Amino acid sequence: MNPSRRPLIAGNWKMFNGGRAGVELAEACVAFARDLPGVDVVIAPPYTALAAVADTIDGSPVALAAQNLYPKDQGPFTGEISGPMLEECGCTWVIVGHSERRQIFGETDAFVAEKTSAALAHDLLPIVCVGETLQQREAGETLRVVKQQIDAFLDVIARTPKAVAIAYEPVWAIGTGKTAGPTEAEEVHAAIRSWLEKKDADLAKRTRILYGGSVKADNAAALLACPNVDGALVGGASLDAGSFGAIARAARRPS
Ligand code: 13P
Repeated sequence: MNPSRRPLIAGNWKMFNGGRAGVELAEACVAFARDLPGVDVVIAPPYTALAAVADTIDGSPVALAAQNLYPKDQGPFTGEISGPMLEECGCTWVIVGHSERRQIFGETDAFVAEKTSAALAHDLLPIVCVGETLQQREAGETLRVVKQQIDAFLDVIARTPKAVAIAYEPVWAIGTGKTAGPTEAEEVHAAIRSWLEKKDADLAKRTRILYGGSVKADNAAALLACPNVDGALVGGASLDAGSFGAIARAARRPS
């Protein structure tokens, strides 16, 4: 692993823990993150918990992410939240293009690129998600599909010196208990790194590529040991501070 790519462990809480429970979970994350100076810990609560969680983690090593944004600063977009609003809430990261948004809310590659660009315009580092469905994997289309998703925002992330993150989350592994094995994950991560490298050598060096999809305390170490896996985007297991902390500890590198 390149030493400049510090391990990054992000918890996507999805539509859970929107109030008091979110603050309690954040407090528990702060407690374990203080003992992990070599690992970047990020949590992504629902919008309704962002401000309270921002207060809870203030001054701690835990960083705040939103789960989505709308790519306009303000306007008549009922129900949407903009980059400046997220920044004001204390977010420094934002998840973009999660497969649940692509699949349930019909987000296209072009829209995901627009959101990535809006995030970067507002000092929010995007974690841009990509990944194939089971049908696409079984048809041998994994690399083609993932490359197409990445090509849509490659110019956007190459234009900035900021270090964005890409999360490879095979759709068939999300919330199913099925994980890509380390070999399967590394194959896709290495391919992603090679496409970044082809675009710009420094882009490949600074971009962290996270794995997501049923990451748990007991499979994290093997996945995180892969040379091109720089961290994890964790769903279900991030709702329990014990499990999430164990995953973050598995990301520690020998100093
Ligand atoms: P699970 O860890 O619950 O499979 O979710 C993964 C995910 O979608 C993270 O964004």
